[in-house]
Amino acid sequence: MAMRNQLNLLFVLLNVVLLSVCSDGATGENYISAVGDPGMRRDGLRVAFEAWNFCNEVGQETPHMGSPRAADCFDLTGSSLKHRVTNDDNKLGVGTPFSGLAPATADNVDLYAVQKELYLGSLCEVQDTPRPWQFWMVMLKNGNFDTRSGLCPANGIKVPPFSSTRFPCFGKGCMNQPILNHQETELFGERLRGGFNGTYDLGSDPSGGINGISFYEVVWEKKVGVGSWVFSHKLKTSKQYPWLMLYLRADATKGYSGGYHYDTRGMLKTPPESPNFKVRLSLDIKKGGGPKSQFYLIDIGSCWKNNGAACDGDVKTDVTRYTEMIINPDTPAWCSPTGLVNCPPYHITPQNKKIYRNDTANFPYSAYHYYCAPGNAQHLEQPVSTCDPYSNPQAQEIVQLLPHPIWADYGYPTKKGRGWVGDPRTWELDVGGLSSRLYYYQDPGTRPARRIWTSIDVGTEIFVSEKDEIAEWSLSDFDVLLTSSTTPKS
Ligand SMILES: *[C@@H]1O[C@H](CO)[C@@H](O)[C@H](O)[C@H]1NC(C)=O
Ligand SMILES: *[C@@H]1O[C@H](CO)[C@@H](O)[C@H](O)[C@H]1NC(C)=O
Repeated sequence: MAMRNQLNLLFVLLNVVLLSVCSDGATGENYISAVGDPGMRRDGLRVAFEAWNFCNEVGQETPHMGSPRAADCFDLTGSSLKHRVTNDDNKLGVGTPFSGLAPATADNVDLYAVQKELYLGSLCEVQDTPRPWQFWMVMLKNGNFDTRSGLCPANGIKVPPFSSTRFPCFGKGCMNQPILNHQETELFGERLRGGFNGTYDLGSDPSGGINGISFYEVVWEKKVGVGSWVFSHKLKTSKQYPWLMLYLRADATKGYSGGYHYDTRGMLKTPPESPNFKVRLSLDIKKGGGPKSQFYLIDIGSCWKNNGAACDGDVKTDVTRYTEMIINPDTPAWCSPTGLVNCPPYHITPQNKKIYRNDTANFPYSAYHYYCAPGNAQHLEQPVSTCDPYSNPQAQEIVQLLPHPIWADYGYPTKKGRGWVGDPRTWELDVGGLSSRLYYYQDPGTRPARRIWTSIDVGTEIFVSEKDEIAEWSLSDFDVLLTSSTTPKS
């Protein structure tokens, strides 16, 4: 038995060496992959689904849908496809026990979803070095907020219900979870195919057409033994659901992923740290989703406290940090010489030169859509805009970028329209380099936070559309590459 385990281990290690250590022809740089499924090439797919309400919780389950967590994970041997997650697993909802469910969390819908994600992770888990991994994550979020529901805290502090017209909500129940249809992956000849789809409009049936209703869909397809999975996404807003988000995420395999204050499961077996990582992916946007579609050619999420310490689950002091490159050419730069309130205090060049935002001759205003600071920061430089206090379980800080020549050194889009509809591309983004030189708030005199990114996402946020809008895109070849200086010595 022991001998066999050692052989297995040796085999795993050999695989890691053979599959993961590659050399970039252009630069000669060595890297290893931070994800469990480098480049989305593994036939035995691992993919999961999670839906979030306005503050990244559940709030209320949709009848007959269970807790909004699901997974499609299988092993393929020859032409035999063996699923690891059953329909019953996917339908698990609050009140129904499962192996490993802590009794204390059994009848709280928010905590139940957390436990269900861990359970699905245990079914999907793949042993690997330096640690096991579980799945790619499809994340869907409804931006409706019923301020009278009392469901969302302000910067992590519980607040009573209040009256406001600031957020979209058609009335009671507007924060509902979606209907989820699951097409279990099947083998059709040489092609594997499966998907998730559904709507937020309860009582409607998308298979009869999606006019007038919200809709989301992710279909994954792959030719056995060849190339990458292709994830085709569709997201449609409606009058009742004008603010929707759909992302494919590589989340950490444990700890907190971006915006999620509970233990998570995912794909990043080694959460990458700035500056030493790159992200490679192919993106083909077919429909943009209208002027409000903030399509993220990478949204990176993490969490650290304002004093630079790592997050520990205390929502009063943990702060979600997001950095997002928005590639919709319709998105304007709110940051400008007359709108300093929307700019970070300074920009740092690749040569490490600091340019203050009041330096109108040099600051790259049009490279920044919007910057907002954590609502619980004590020493902010004025003028400043603080981030929405309700849309995360804790305070958040957001740096939103736009295509601009100053990002050229990092391989990010340098011009409006790059990578947009009709311009499919394979990107190699120096996400680590760029994120090491962005401004993030920290209390004066504290040790700089380690910038370790626990979520790397691609997708769109249609931010309160005025009419029904549809976005459509496909994503493939996704990989996160740890560059040489973080490569462990062998
Ligand atoms: C959604 O998925 C179901 C299968 O789960 C499928 O029958 C349907 O055609 C898909 N698309 C729409 C628009 O409903
Ligand atoms: C510009 O901003 C920096 C940092 O806030 C400040 O030290 C400097 O005095 C300002 N310069 C001008 C000309 O206002």
